Amino acid sequence: MISDAYNKNGRRILAIGVWKDRLTYSESVQEAESLLAGQASLKLPFECGVAPSPIAYHAVKARLDEAGLITCAQNIMWHEPAGSYIGEVTTRMLADLGIRFSIVGHSERRLTFGETDEVVRGKFRTCVDADIFPVVCIGDTAEQRAQGSSWKHLETQIGAVLRDPLPPVTSFALAYEPVWAISTWRNAEPLPTGIVVNEIHLNLRRVVENLIGSQYASELSILYGGSVNPANGFDYLVQPNVDGALIGGASKTAESLLATFRACSEGFLSR
Ligand code: PGA
Repeated sequence: MISDAYNKNGRRILAIGVWKDRLTYSESVQEAESLLAGQASLKLPFECGVAPSPIAYHAVKARLDEAGLITCAQNIMWHEPAGSYIGEVTTRMLADLGIRFSIVGHSERRLTFGETDEVVRGKFRTCVDADIFPVVCIGDTAEQRAQGSSWKHLETQIGAVLRDPLPPVTSFALAYEPVWAISTWRNAEPLPTGIVVNEIHLNLRRVVENLIGSQYASELSILYGGSVNPANGFDYLVQPNVDGALIGGASKTAESLLATFRACSEGFLSR
């Protein structure tokens, strides 16, 4: 398995299984061991990994390191230094474990825990300053979509993180995760096809281009998340503007996560 990959525009390609709060410590270790056992048959053309629960970061990372997979934090404290924020995980703690990635601003953090754009910006900046690669989730809800306000909302979310001081484009990724396509929030709405997601990602690049410029926009990694699974991973990753995936429900078992990594890899290699 190779440790990293960039597409021809210089964008980092990443696929990360997100375990959320589904697995206990023991279950996480067991899944990580199954991933370690199962990954040998896969030749992944880009970085793949898992975001486990914080309680299992250390133990899972030991197995994933061996498997050549990355370990990503699910969330992070929104500023350093710490000392009076009980229950939070800081970038210093991640650095101590050697964890170099963190999800920031996942829709469940925004919608269930009330994280504002300002808080997400704080988390983003804290990661960048600590040399931890944030994957910043942005996404519109079914209501915003119905009201025609999706783009206004997405522009605000992007503008909140892409302000001065501007981080190097290689130091982070965006993840477009339409709330209406995420398995836990999903209603009867059909999933967007790869072609539709590619078009949305192109529009997201235009938003970034208007804010910062065309080179930055073309070099920015934009992952997709929303019910990515073994059946549709190919369709998403074959698209030139889809730079990876966040995989929730389909990461529940090692078997299904590896099958999703495989489908995404085959899509990527068929571009
Ligand atoms: P899903 O979750 O793949 O189950 O839709 C993705 C996510 O919440 O990041």
